[in-house]
Amino acid sequence: MQRFLTSGLRRLASPAVLAAALLALSAGVASAQAVKPATGQDDPAPPAVTAPAATQPGGIRSANIFEIAPDAATDPKYSEQTNAERGKVQPGNNAPMWRDVGKGVTGYSSLPYPEAGNMIQGFVQYPGSRLTNAGEAWRQVRNNWIIPYGGSLLLIAVVALALFYFGKGTIKLHGSETGRVIERFTYVERAAHWVNAIAFVVLAVSGVVMAFGKFFLLPVIGSTLFGWLTYALKNMHNFAGPLFAVSLVVVFFTFLKDNWPSKEDFTWIMKAGGLFGGAEVPSHRFNAGEKVVFWGGVFFLGLIVVGSGVFLDKIVPAVEYTRANMQVASMIHGVATILMMAMFLGHIYMGTIGMQGAYKAMKTGYVDETWAKEHHELWYDDIKAGKIPAHRTAAAAAASDAPRTA
Ligand code: HEM
Repeated sequence: MQRFLTSGLRRLASPAVLAAALLALSAGVASAQAVKPATGQDDPAPPAVTAPAATQPGGIRSANIFEIAPDAATDPKYSEQTNAERGKVQPGNNAPMWRDVGKGVTGYSSLPYPEAGNMIQGFVQYPGSRLTNAGEAWRQVRNNWIIPYGGSLLLIAVVALALFYFGKGTIKLHGSETGRVIERFTYVERAAHWVNAIAFVVLAVSGVVMAFGKFFLLPVIGSTLFGWLTYALKNMHNFAGPLFAVSLVVVFFTFLKDNWPSKEDFTWIMKAGGLFGGAEVPSHRFNAGEKVVFWGGVFFLGLIVVGSGVFLDKIVPAVEYTRANMQVASMIHGVATILMMAMFLGHIYMGTIGMQGAYKAMKTGYVDETWAKEHHELWYDDIKAGKIPAHRTAAAAAASDAPRTA
């Protein structure tokens, strides 16, 4: 402070600055009398009422509400005033209006959007959040629950499968292959399955990057690449979603017939299919584990994931896409997709490295008789008994070629 004053005085002492200062003083004396800027502690207190801002020197200045009506706040009803009442005692002070905006009060807007008159949503308490405005409540549920616990569940599923794999290894055939094959999946069944599976992988990868990428990808590839990647994946997610939805419906009806529960499923579940020891429990075309994935994953979670997903895609007609609706859909979608991913990680494991011959079945459509006998014995027995054709495509073709008799 002292250094500043000395250098200021030194500059003041120069003749040119002195002359300029004298000129400025004589020209500005009138206005200097009207408004006296606060320059330091020694200055007298500013006058209670000053000239309007427009007549003051130094360009446009906003009105200071304390200068307009300094004693307005002494009114005992000051804090309950409406915006109109406040405007009368302190013109330009819109604090009551902004306080209402913060409380979520809806005002008037001529814009044609359902929530155009509401800037900040009202207070709400979503499960797991504090009672706060809905946007913040949604953020708390997402960041404090869905992301940490959902991420942990997925990691636990991956670790459990890794432990299972290193403990048990691939489930191999015990007998040798016969060379005689059975058609397990027709072309239509495989096509429906793979379209659905590819859409699922695109959705899962893009969804995981959008939800968790900032923890494991952003630090590695940097914000520029991460931004572009996430943007591209987000668009892929929006397009793969409807494809997944349609193919899921096809998958559901394609495999429904052989996924109805049977009494043997109970034994399979009680013994966990023999996965943790003992012989594999006989099953029909699909075992109880596959049926749990079918009803729990494809049907139940599929319905919720697809329902909330197409809602978030805004392709459901005649629905109000308000912020509250989108927040609820986003939370439901987050929870259901994480459960679905955890479930399908197990399915994908069994369909690839978990069981010898399973992937080949879905790729080529055929399994060896030994595979059928060891993994789906009741289905194999029905085929041997002639109840189910071993080659459904050929049987269907033969049936359609056969001359029709009246
Ligand atoms: C990359 C991902 C996937 C792989 C590698 C895969 C692999 C397989 C394999 C190998 C089978 C045959 C199992 C058997 O012969 O018993 C199968 C069956 C099946 N998969 Fe997948 N799958 C994948 C994703 C999906 C997805 C996303 C869905 C549905 C949302 C799905 C639904 C089914 C259904 C319904 C069956 C028939 C068995 C049953 O009804 O439980 N799969 N999958």
